Amino acid sequence: MIIRHSPDLRYSDVTPKQVYLNRRRFLAASGVAGLALPFAARAAKLSTTKSSNLGGNEKVTSKEIVSGYNNYYEFGTGKQDPAENAPKWKVPSPWTVQIGGEVMKPKTFDLDAIMKLAPVEERIYRHRCVEAWSIVVPWIGFSLNNLLKQVEPTAKAKFVQFDTYYDPKIMLSPREAGIPFPYKEGLRLDEAMHNLTLLGMGMYGETLPNQNGAPLRLVIPWKYGFKSIKSVNKITFVETQPKTDWAAYAPGEYGFYSNVNPKRDHPRWTQAKERRLGEGFLGRGIEKDTVMFNGYGDQVAGMYTGMDLMKNY
Ligand code: MTE
Repeated sequence: MIIRHSPDLRYSDVTPKQVYLNRRRFLAASGVAGLALPFAARAAKLSTTKSSNLGGNEKVTSKEIVSGYNNYYEFGTGKQDPAENAPKWKVPSPWTVQIGGEVMKPKTFDLDAIMKLAPVEERIYRHRCVEAWSIVVPWIGFSLNNLLKQVEPTAKAKFVQFDTYYDPKIMLSPREAGIPFPYKEGLRLDEAMHNLTLLGMGMYGETLPNQNGAPLRLVIPWKYGFKSIKSVNKITFVETQPKTDWAAYAPGEYGFYSNVNPKRDHPRWTQAKERRLGEGFLGRGIEKDTVMFNGYGDQVAGMYTGMDLMKNY
């Protein structure tokens, strides 16, 4: 994996300059089309954890689209609402993430402590929303397991629950948004510990815009986008499968696993196709076939061996 070795990097240092070398190398590894790379970067010897196995004709989606077309129900239910409302939110400082539950060493981390845990990387991931649109995003962060292993999960820990920061003074009420708050998501322990599961702190070489989940979010590229919880401030290791927002809202529509699966349609629309935002004529988006596990099956399919993925959707 492409890594900037700097244990001293602070959260505020996630800038284009700091990650520049790393970024060039990562793009070279990912084979993203349409990006002119110096020969030296392309030829650089890279360890190839294929965290960005994009096809040759896939392009990174523009930052304008990725930060202007969002789902962040705390800041509105329309796609443009988060870009309008979330920037007015003053992200609390210091930001802390409280980690507890079935662990030997419960601990609360602030951002600078988190940044010291591992070098940040740029990872270009496909991101497929359950609503059948998709984007390609150059995230910045590192594998979530770097943080989780600090607290030493006990043998009882089978799942991990994540909570979003919630401030009713500035965010919608659950009644207005139609879903419970604080927003909750969950993963099985092996999914949470998987190297592809990213603790994201930035995108496009900069810290995250509020509407994309500042200051910390998850990105789980083989699952539908709603699993990628934004603005995380609490992580709890638990014994039983946690109750998550969308699965609680409509269990027949949104399952706990929510692995991208073109064969398992949403009751109200097909999941076999997706619209890649920003591409095609006048950037109106082009239709693509959706791929099992969003194209990350070589790395994640093994976690679901023997499971009926039509039932465990
Ligand atoms: N996290 C919180 N806290 N609140 C939300 O409404 N929406 C989810 C997910 N994380 C959501 C959230 C959904 S439905 C999607 S598709 C992705 O965020 C969208 O991420 P993006 O806006 O960065 O593309």
